[in-house]
Amino acid sequence: MSNKMWGGRFSRGPDAVMEAINASIDFDRRLYAQDIAGSRAHAAMLADCGIISAEDAAAINKGLDTIASEIEAGSFSFSSALEDIHMNIEARLKDLIGEAAGRLHTARSRNDQVATDFRLYVRDSLDRLDAGLAAYQEALAAKALQHFDAVMPGFTHLQSAQPVTFGHHLLAYVEMASRDRGRLADARRRLNQCPLGAAALAGTSFPIDREKTARALGFDAPMANSLDAVSARDFVLEALAASAICATHMSRFAEEIVLWSSAQFRFVTLSDAYSTGSSIMPQKRNPDAAELVRAKAGRIIGALVSLSVVMKGLPLAYSKDMQEDKEPAFDALDALELVVLAMTGMVADMEPDRARLREAAGAGFATATDIADWLVREKRMAFRDAHHVTGRIVALAEARGVGLEDLSLDDLRSVEASIDAGVLDVIGVESSVASRTSLGGTAPENVKAAAQRWLDTLKVERAER
Ligand code: ARG
Repeated sequence: MSNKMWGGRFSRGPDAVMEAINASIDFDRRLYAQDIAGSRAHAAMLADCGIISAEDAAAINKGLDTIASEIEAGSFSFSSALEDIHMNIEARLKDLIGEAAGRLHTARSRNDQVATDFRLYVRDSLDRLDAGLAAYQEALAAKALQHFDAVMPGFTHLQSAQPVTFGHHLLAYVEMASRDRGRLADARRRLNQCPLGAAALAGTSFPIDREKTARALGFDAPMANSLDAVSARDFVLEALAASAICATHMSRFAEEIVLWSSAQFRFVTLSDAYSTGSSIMPQKRNPDAAELVRAKAGRIIGALVSLSVVMKGLPLAYSKDMQEDKEPAFDALDALELVVLAMTGMVADMEPDRARLREAAGAGFATATDIADWLVREKRMAFRDAHHVTGRIVALAEARGVGLEDLSLDDLRSVEASIDAGVLDVIGVESSVASRTSLGGTAPENVKAAAQRWLDTLKVERAER
């Protein structure tokens, strides 16, 4: 049997392989709610413009209600002979309401239909991601406030560099998440124009009102060019690009959680809720969630690459290649939502070992820069000379196998005679972090204020949501 939706000029049906490669219903059924919303808006507009009767529009609406409940109840039977969600719904509508169903597709094509559905779907995903990231930021800022003064090593090259506070480290990720949200919001803003009414590619001769459908579906405006409307997928690419960057940030933090929770670092512990055991090594507590967050970045970035490659060779307007936009996007957006939840959970769950962090902060001669700065400030030494003197102090401590804090004033003077007791105020890790009061610096008072500022901002935002 030829296809009942478009088979007028066909005398037989497709080969089984043709059907297998052509059908998208197995994945695009996820667009059912958006497809129904788009059809409702379209039918209402067609009736308002006198293109179909009000009775037909009412029948269409009622049929769509039934279809929505059937799909939600799991009783709808999806058919791959009907290719995709659009034709599955339309065929069922025909069973339910008869002839009026055939009028729904007036002045519309699956090309503008799928573009509209997918924009609505991605828009919903972006909104959920934004809310998820806000909760992640809140968890980070709350933990940062709790540990605004917990001193830990700050690293460059993963070598002890200068002491920082645990709160300061966490707030770095709050800032990243804030930019991630900004990118997602930008993507949403550009996405929010409506393709519906562009029809197959050229527009339509029916007197439709595209402003009306755009408004009904919560878009800011109709898309201005019908060719662009049906063939643009940069809205998905942009959402995936923003997602890929966000996933990259999550992965960096996940990597730190993996390191921090190791027996070698012991900076944080994750409770049983976020750890897994080993089937052979009883002592193990593995940070599997963090490792999976790190790995999910791979598939999210992969989705961006995959769709970029699909799109790069396509002439205008629609080509069936674009059907391949959905699976990677669904997969990546699902993955990122889960990643954000897992990171939020781990942040709330993790307990820093403050004593261990303090101990590690003092290791690796982390306050050497403080000594050099002190020589510049108090002894008017040129920074390069101060750097050299401090290097010799570090070498002395290293030769003795002790930390800088363990050297006596006499030890220090043996390297540089002008050093006096004032240096003892800067040599400790607490005084080191306390002195970093420059804007954005790690001083606990800065960190406390920044954490509080973020919590206040996020609270206001939450109230407005
Ligand atoms: N299932 C198709 C897709 O996802 C819908 C559009 C099909 N349009 C067409 N002219 N065959 O892209």
